[in-house]
Amino acid sequence: MSMNLYERIPNNVNLSGDKRLQRALEKWLPNYLDWWREMGPEGFQDKEVYLRTAISVQPDGWANFDYVKMPDYRWGIFLKPADANATVGFGDNYGMPVYQEVPGEFRNALRRIIVTQGDTEPASVEQQRELGKTCPSLYDLRNLFQVNVEEGRHLWAMVYLLQRYFGQDGRDEADELLQRRSGNPDKPRILEAFNQPCDDWLNFFCFTMFTDRDGKFQLAALAESGFEPLARTCQFMLTEEAHHLFVGETGVGRVVKRTAQLMKENPNEDVRELGAIPLDILQRYINFWFSYSLDLFGGEISSNSADFFAAGLKGRYKEQDNYAEHTAANENFMLSVVEDGRLAQREVPLRNALNEVLRGEYVKDCERALARWNKFLRDDGVAAELYLPSTRFHRHVGEFAGHAFDVRGELITAEEFERRRAEWLPSMADREFVRSLMHPVTEPGKIANWIAPPAAGIKGKPFEFEYVRL
Ligand SMILES: [Fe+2]
Ligand SMILES: [Fe+2]
Repeated sequence: MSMNLYERIPNNVNLSGDKRLQRALEKWLPNYLDWWREMGPEGFQDKEVYLRTAISVQPDGWANFDYVKMPDYRWGIFLKPADANATVGFGDNYGMPVYQEVPGEFRNALRRIIVTQGDTEPASVEQQRELGKTCPSLYDLRNLFQVNVEEGRHLWAMVYLLQRYFGQDGRDEADELLQRRSGNPDKPRILEAFNQPCDDWLNFFCFTMFTDRDGKFQLAALAESGFEPLARTCQFMLTEEAHHLFVGETGVGRVVKRTAQLMKENPNEDVRELGAIPLDILQRYINFWFSYSLDLFGGEISSNSADFFAAGLKGRYKEQDNYAEHTAANENFMLSVVEDGRLAQREVPLRNALNEVLRGEYVKDCERALARWNKFLRDDGVAAELYLPSTRFHRHVGEFAGHAFDVRGELITAEEFERRRAEWLPSMADREFVRSLMHPVTEPGKIANWIAPPAAGIKGKPFEFEYVRL
């Protein structure tokens, strides 16, 4: 599959061979650019940013690094190469040839999956659009913009699928993706985590750590889909997504490091007084973003998840590598539910519990990051530890929505939850304090006081490199 990098829309899907589709996408392009100018990073559209741009789908050398103004970024449509002998990897059609077109009975459900994934991409750009003004360093500013332009490209990836495979419905959905707005009460984004404000850098790092990480697991499950164009699209998106997760995990890690360092140097002082973020506020931000991100996996018991698995459309995490048996047909899964006002165990068919199975993989990955952050604390002799709250805490979707739990997962009354809310979730005062630390630092090589510098720069460049020319 050849790369057409110099067409109006760079692609490796032979767009010029499908004039109807090409016209539809070229009609969508100016609307996308209008949206980018209106809702993309505020105040930096005419600055040169040291960005990577996808130019190939080969594992080595897939990206080119250079200065580019964001509106000139070459957003393209790239799918991983097809495997001529690919077969459906799980479910009732296990071993049959993969689907090149949308299976009729799953058309609506599949469209919903693609629209929901597609909606998160521009939503996150909207959530983050003001952050450039308070960047802690040029390195971080560049990383923010890298994430933003690639979320834009992920929108292109989903719009391609909609316009290519879903006819007029798909074209309408593509238009609507540019019309909804994060946090807008009249036309909000589809998922709640994507309507939450992300207006300070601690929010940004938690968002890329926890919420983008949901994307990793969703994309990974779809990357083995029997609907082959979706699988190949998601495979390439995952290549880019890794950097977003890196930004989040190391971003929070650098906040932890800086706080630990100040606690060590000033054992009798409150780090607030020293202009850093105390661990209790950080913990509340973790609780907030972790719990909202858990909701993104959907209900614990789900007939949709069973249907999708049966159809071979959405698998488990690393279905081929991690499982020997790919029908999941005659197995059961034990999970916690609330029954008569008490926690109870219930056994359900495994296929109905696949949202919970995927969520479990996500939690393991988050625990790995927490262990790293706690090591930073230990390294500086700080006894306190950060933790993940129970997966029942502060949930708005699934079995635990509508019930109150403490951070250890004990069922409590709604009154107790409200009484202790400020202990567990960021208060207005917390948010205001964090915001009070957010002053832009844009001199090359300098960094804000509340965060440690990164261990290394981008693409072999030093931290002092001029990542954005202001
Ligand atoms: Fe994305
Ligand atoms: Fe992302």
